[in-house]
Amino acid sequence: MTNLVRLRDFVREFTRLVDSGADEARIFSDGRELLGALVAVDDWLPDEFARPHRDRYRQFLLHCDPLERFSVVSFVWGPGQATPVHDHTVWGMVGVLRGTERCQEFALPATPGPMVSTGSHALPAGAIDLVSPIVGDIHRVSNALADGVSVSIHVYGANIGAVARHTFDLASGERKRFVSGYENETVPNLWRV
Ligand SMILES: [Fe+2]
Repeated sequence: MTNLVRLRDFVREFTRLVDSGADEARIFSDGRELLGALVAVDDWLPDEFARPHRDRYRQFLLHCDPLERFSVVSFVWGPGQATPVHDHTVWGMVGVLRGTERCQEFALPATPGPMVSTGSHALPAGAIDLVSPIVGDIHRVSNALADGVSVSIHVYGANIGAVARHTFDLASGERKRFVSGYENETVPNLWRV
């Protein structure tokens, strides 16, 4: 059995934060504290939401606010796995729970052409990264470990699996619409005693 109370407390506190009418800046300050505390201890995520797939990364919904004001998702990367270059269209926070991830950031070119690289950094366990149309919204995330699994917990300002967003071809900059959905049929029971 895992310590799901941590996730329950996180969901409760994050709901309070959103209920308070917090804008993106306050979500990124106060919400970052909450997410930092959640990923600081790796004893609560049930195994079924942390298992890698042999061929591709996975995303599992852990909780969606009933009013779709935020969602909490676990991302699981096996060795060598990566997302496409993509945007979010809403604020998002990435907290690494296990392993190490690499984040490569991009901007749209001024004229049609290849995506413009704007930076790359590693995120070890416990690190938090931010995305949004305001602070920078286009990136590619990959597993920095060649021989291990990395897991991160993401929080987004919408029901992210249902949001119409985009992937980008690195070489041509061509944009394609996508809706990610979620892999799982059931979410963790936060109220198990
Ligand atoms: Fe992302």
